[in-house]
Amino acid sequence: MKLDLAATCTFGLESVLKREIISLGYQIKSTDNGRIYFSSDDLALARANIFLRTADRVHIVLSEFPAHDFDELFEGVRSVEWENFISERGQIVVKGRSANSKIHSVPVAQSMTKKAIIERLRESTGRNEIIEDGVMFPVEIELNNDIGRLMLNTSGEALFKRGYRGTTGDAPMKETLAAGLIMLSGWKSSEPLVDPFCGSGTIPIEAAMIKKNMAPGLNRHFLSMKWDFIDKKVWNSAASEAMDMIRPCDRAEIYGYDKDTEIIAAASANAQNAEVEDCAVFKNVPVEMLKLKGQPGVIVTNPPYGERLSDRNEAEGLYLSLKTVLERKPDWSANIITAHPAFQELFGRAEKKRKLFNGNLKCNYYSYFR
Ligand SMILES: C[S@@+](CC[C@H](N)C(=O)[O-])C[C@H]1O[C@@H](n2cnc3c(N)ncnc32)[C@H](O)[C@@H]1O
Repeated sequence: MKLDLAATCTFGLESVLKREIISLGYQIKSTDNGRIYFSSDDLALARANIFLRTADRVHIVLSEFPAHDFDELFEGVRSVEWENFISERGQIVVKGRSANSKIHSVPVAQSMTKKAIIERLRESTGRNEIIEDGVMFPVEIELNNDIGRLMLNTSGEALFKRGYRGTTGDAPMKETLAAGLIMLSGWKSSEPLVDPFCGSGTIPIEAAMIKKNMAPGLNRHFLSMKWDFIDKKVWNSAASEAMDMIRPCDRAEIYGYDKDTEIIAAASANAQNAEVEDCAVFKNVPVEMLKLKGQPGVIVTNPPYGERLSDRNEAEGLYLSLKTVLERKPDWSANIITAHPAFQELFGRAEKKRKLFNGNLKCNYYSYFR
């Protein structure tokens, strides 16, 4: 079945996600802020959900149509062949967004969309009552410059919820962002990777999954697995492809350090859950005591940002300690994400600076190459 797909991601990770989709073998149709469009089929939908490391969700794009007023919106929604997508008794949940459009009331747009879907289902199935107590179908209606776009969220829960993280610290990073930071760092999986502020271990665990070629979605469930119009065989085929690709970890050279003993125990447990404990090693070492050993490698890290004024001095002290660690090993490269406004004044001018969001926080990702 031919499908138009859209994978969403954190702002700033579009280039990485695009590369991932291309390396899965699909052609990019277009790119938008936080979103990549591509066309393929239901196998691509399953593969995208299971394999993409930096995507937050994978959607099917059902239709685009002019929506200057509610009549156009209603007709645009009703013209979609919903009977081919929504299973009998499927629960239809509509979420909306509106920007630069005459229809700016999102609640009204949502209820109008739902009404039009129900009307279409009534007409096409001949059923008077549409019962909704089955599988969920999350529909999204986006209004942008008076154009309506209808999408179905195929992932369900966001893809950063890989399922391996039990305990986390105060400021855990999304798994998808951690994977994106690693991919932007230029790290090769034959090299060592160190995260001196590893917290619950997200960056080292994602690096270990890359090294072992483990698809991030292999052990989780996706909402569209229950949808009738998607051939169940595509999920088995994508999962067995992912199983066949896993390779053993030859040398464990991925390290996570933190000053907090409890969080180090949690990181080790998380690595076990992710089945990468053979590849990522966690130790309780404060950055002030850290010594980089072995062949040259790459630091990828998410240190404290010192957002509260009272914490700022402490964060600045940590950046200076990390700088000292690196001065002893100039053949290592370093990649640091932070929201601290004066980071470069303390650490030195970065060769590359990228704007990224960590949750709602506007950050920069600074790269210092060896
Ligand atoms: C922003 S959190 C890292 C979160 C991590 N990326 C995750 O996904 O869980 C920063 C970490 O720096 C650690 N930290 C603070 N001071 C430190 C020090 N002097 N040496 C090493 N780690 C330190 C904290 O314990 C905390 O876990």
